[in-house]
Amino acid sequence: MASKNRSRTKIQGTLGDELKSRRIGLCITGSVAVVKSPEIARELIRHGADVISVMSDEAQNLIQPELMRWATQNDVIISVTGRMEHIRLTEEGPERLDLILIAPATANTLSKIATGVSDTTVTLLASCALGSNIPIVVAPSMHESLWSNPAVESNLDRLKKLGVDILEPLVEEGKAKITPTEDIVEAVIRRLHVKDMAGFKVLVTAGPTYEHLDPIRMLTNRSSGKMGFALAKEALRRGAEVTLVSGPTSLSPPSSIDFTPIETTRQLYDTVVSKLKEERYDLFLAAAAPEDFRPVKPSAEKMSSRIARPLDLKFEATEKVIDSVKKIQRDIFLVSFKAEWGLNRDDMIKRAKVIIQEADADMVAVNDAAQKGTGFKADTNQILLVKKNGSTIDIPLALKQTVARRILDTFLKVTRKHSQ
Ligand SMILES: Cc1cc2nc3c(=O)[nH]c(=O)nc-3n(C[C@H](O)[C@H](O)[C@H](O)COP(=O)(O)O)c2cc1C
Repeated sequence: MASKNRSRTKIQGTLGDELKSRRIGLCITGSVAVVKSPEIARELIRHGADVISVMSDEAQNLIQPELMRWATQNDVIISVTGRMEHIRLTEEGPERLDLILIAPATANTLSKIATGVSDTTVTLLASCALGSNIPIVVAPSMHESLWSNPAVESNLDRLKKLGVDILEPLVEEGKAKITPTEDIVEAVIRRLHVKDMAGFKVLVTAGPTYEHLDPIRMLTNRSSGKMGFALAKEALRRGAEVTLVSGPTSLSPPSSIDFTPIETTRQLYDTVVSKLKEERYDLFLAAAAPEDFRPVKPSAEKMSSRIARPLDLKFEATEKVIDSVKKIQRDIFLVSFKAEWGLNRDDMIKRAKVIIQEADADMVAVNDAAQKGTGFKADTNQILLVKKNGSTIDIPLALKQTVARRILDTFLKVTRKHSQ
C-alpha cells in the first residue's frame, strides 16, 4: 500500500493542480493508439487527477491491463461484475467520476455509444455517464477509411448533439491519428473548468519580435512566449473568446483560438490596431516583448563579415503598441507586462506607475528577470501586480499557468468591484 502511494505522488500535480481532486475515467478501446494511453494517464496525473482505467476486451488484446495499473496506481476495470462498477462510477457517491475520457476511441465504440448500445465495459460506462450528466470527451483514432465512413460521420454528429466533445484527429498517411496528448489533457481541463469568463472577449499578445539587420540577421530578445500563451490558455479554459497575436515561438497555439503570427513590431502594432478597430474587446493582455528599436536602414543583402569595423548602425524607435490601445478602445481593461532587471520593489512600482500614466494601463505586471526561475525562458514566474489605484499584489514564484490564473482572478475581482 505504501509503495502504491509513493509512486503516484511522485508525479501527482507536478505540471499543475487544475485536475486536483478530480476523478477521471480513462476508457481505452481497441485501437493501435492504445500505446498512448499510459502517457495520457500520466499527464492527467501530473495535472493533479486521480485516473481510473477502463479497458474494452479488444484493448486488452493490444496491451496488458497491468501497464495501466502501473500508470495510474489504481485497479483497472476489465469487465463488469456483480460489484456494478458502471453504476458505482456514475451515481452520486465517493466513486463517481467527474469526467470520462475515451482515448483512444474506436469507430466501433463511438458508433455504439451514439446509438445507446452498451455491450462492453466502455460502452456501458459511457451510456450510464450520458444518463448521469457526466461529461464525456473522446479522442478518435482509426484508419482514414473508417473515419470517412458516412455511418461513422453521422454517429459522430449524434455524439456532438448528445454533448460529447470530439477531439479532431490529425488525418495524414491514410490514418486519422489521435490528438496529441497535451491537447487531450487541455481539453479535459477546459471541459471541467468553471466558465467565469464566458462572454468576455480577450486580446493577448505574446513572444518576441524580430527586427532585421539584413536578410539573415536580426535584433530580438529572449522572450519565449510562455507567459502570453499561458494567459490565452487560462482565458479559454474560463470560457472567454480569445485572440492571440504572437511573435515567433516554439509553442503551438491552443485549439479554438483566433491566432495571428507576426514577426516585426510594426506587424504586431498593425495587427493589434486593426483587431481593436474591428471588434470590441473586454481585456487586453500585453504580454509580448516587442523590440523597442529597429535599424533605420536594414541591409537588403547579407552584410559582409569583412566590412570596415566597428560596424556603425543607426536605430530608430519602434511603434509603442500599448500606448495605442486605450486611444482606440477607451473602455478596454489594459494589463501591461514589464520585465525589469535587478530593480528593488520600490523602483519596480515606480516603473509600473509610469506605464499606468503613459498608456493609461489598468494594471501592470512587473517581474525582475534577474531573479532565479523568473522571466523569459522559465516555466515559472514571480510577479508584482500594480493596480491603477497604486495598490499591489504579490504573485509568488509559481508555474506560469498558475500565475496566469492569479492575474485573471485579479482582473475579475477588479472589474466586478467596478460594475457593482
Ligand atoms: C491491431 C489492431 C488495430 C486496430 N486499430 C484500430 C483503430 O485504430 N481504430 C479503430 O476504430 N479500430 C481499430 N481496430 C479494430 C477494432 O479493434 C475493432 O473494431 C474492435 O471491435 C473494437 O472493439 P472496442 O471498440 O470494443 O475496443 C484495430 C484492430 C486491431 C487488431
